Formats: sequence, C-alpha cells, structure tokens
Amino acid sequence: MKKIKVSAPGKLMLLGEHSVVHKHPCIVTAVEQRLYLNMHIIKDDILILNAPDVKVKNYKKPFNKLLQNDIPKGALYIETAVKNFSDEYKIDTGISISTNSEFSSKLGFGSSSASAVCTIKALAEIFGIKITPRQVFNLAYKTHFDIRGLSSGFDIAAAVYGKTLFYSKRGEIIKKIDVESLPLIIGYTKTKAHTADIVEKVAEKLEKYPNVVNSIFDSISYLVQKGKKALLDYDLKLFGDLMNFNQGYLESLGVNSLILSKLVYAARNSGAFGAKLSGAGIGDNMIAVAPKSKMNQIENAILNAGGEPIKIKTNVEGVRLEN
Ligand code: MEV
Repeated sequence: MKKIKVSAPGKLMLLGEHSVVHKHPCIVTAVEQRLYLNMHIIKDDILILNAPDVKVKNYKKPFNKLLQNDIPKGALYIETAVKNFSDEYKIDTGISISTNSEFSSKLGFGSSSASAVCTIKALAEIFGIKITPRQVFNLAYKTHFDIRGLSSGFDIAAAVYGKTLFYSKRGEIIKKIDVESLPLIIGYTKTKAHTADIVEKVAEKLEKYPNVVNSIFDSISYLVQKGKKALLDYDLKLFGDLMNFNQGYLESLGVNSLILSKLVYAARNSGAFGAKLSGAGIGDNMIAVAPKSKMNQIENAILNAGGEPIKIKTNVEGVRLEN
C-alpha cells in the first residue's frame, strides 16, 4: 500500500497585512512549526479523515458526495482541496488522510492553508501526477478562496514556497527575498482573531473612505518596498522602524487592540528594533524584531504584559515530501 507523508510550514506576516488583500504587496516568512499530513490509498471510493488537532475523528465521506451535507469545520479545507484536486485530475480511488500539527490552530499560523497545500501535494505524489509549485499554489488558493472569499492567499504562498517572500496581486507576484532567519519574537495575545470579519470591516472602511484608506494602503506598500531592501541589506534597525510605521497605519485602519498595543509597547520598551501586530489584528499575535542580546528581556516583558512569548525560527522550507 502506497503511503505518503508531506509537511508544510506555518507563516508570519512581517509587513503589509490587510492592504495585501487589496492587491498591494506584503512580506511574509515561513516559520519552523509545520503541519504533517499522512495519506494512503484505500479500496472504497471514500475520503477518510483523522485530524485530532481540529477535533476530527474518523470522518468519512463518499467521493461522489464531497462538499455535500454537513462538514465539520476541521475537515473543510481538506475536503475542499480533495474535491478541487479530483475535479482537475480525476481521482478514481479513495484515500485516507491523517494530520498532526506542531502548532496549535489557535495561534493563527495558518494551519488551514498548510493543510490545503499538504493535501494537494500529497495527492499529486500518491497518484504520480507531476505538479509544479505554481499549480499547487493555484489549487490551494482556489480552495482557500472557495471557503473564505476575500483573502490575499499570502499564507498559501508561504506554505508552498517557504522562506521569506515578497507577495503581491493575490499571487501574481511571488518572489523569494534572500535573507537569513530573523531574530524575531512572537507575543501571542491568547485571544483569537476572526480574520474574515476583520477583513470585511477593513473592506467596509475602504468603501466608506476610499481616499483615506487608499492612501494608507499606498503608504503601507511603500513600507513593504523599503522593507524588502532593508532585509536584503540585513538592516534590522531600519526594518524595525518600518514595522513601527506599519503598526501606526494598522491602528488607523481599526485593527489594533489594547492587548496588542500592550505587547507592542512592552517589546519596544525592552529594546526591540520594532514591533507590530501580525496577521488580521485585534487578537492573535504581535511580532518584534530585536537584537539577540535583548530577547530574554523582551520575552519577560511580553509575559508581564499578559501575553505568551513564542520563540520561532523563520525563513524555513516550504511544502516537502517527508518519505
Ligand atoms: C491575515 O493573516 C492577513 C490578512 O491580510 C488577510 C489576508 O491576507 O488574507 C488580514
């Protein structure tokens, strides 16, 4: 029986969230924590899924009923990815999938996107179909879009290509930025961000105040372009300043919160080069780039301000075969 194991990394937005949804650029890095997916072929024409991290146990769905009836939340990305793949490449036998994640889906590191990318990569491998990273991206982005609607797809790109990416125009432009892993610390707010709702709120603001919001988006684009250059020069002091500017713009878009601000100031006041929220905002995470000598101090400050510090390696490999 053929068995495949693949993995894909989580992501962290460094600069450019929200404006990226509206086709502006962002910089994203892939993080060390990975989602693992095992797949084997079975005789019956069904999908079997076990994903304990998202509370899915022995879920079964006939292939001809994919995306029909009730689907548990934890199965949605994988079932949609299987359906999109089989519509494109015509699968003629059932499969069993199990996943386990090194990161909690709570953390907002993009476990759903990583699971869609892993599903598509594993299906291509198991059925011996040659598929380029671009094709994996396109199918996984379609999956993401089918489920979430308005979204940029940057997290799909991070899961597929890994490393640190300049990402723009919903994936028309994806370029690797040749940079080392950044000295970065995450502060988890212990509250969940409801990304789709927050993205919707920003879209409403854009509609109501197009001149204001478009000029904020243009300013963020400028920071992202500058940020790319700062990373290439490994000028972390400049990159930190750009993060601080970006945080100000995110505040004016209405996606900051008290807890995020507390963690951002805790990091800045303990010697970070710069700190900002990362991702949708309101909850989830903030990030700080800092001299290595200040890391412990910043960790303690985040803890004392009510957050959970997480140390993480960035700039890691994208989706890969594990066996
Ligand atoms: C969420 O992690 C980042 C957003 O820019 C949404 C997206 O890019 O799809 C807010």
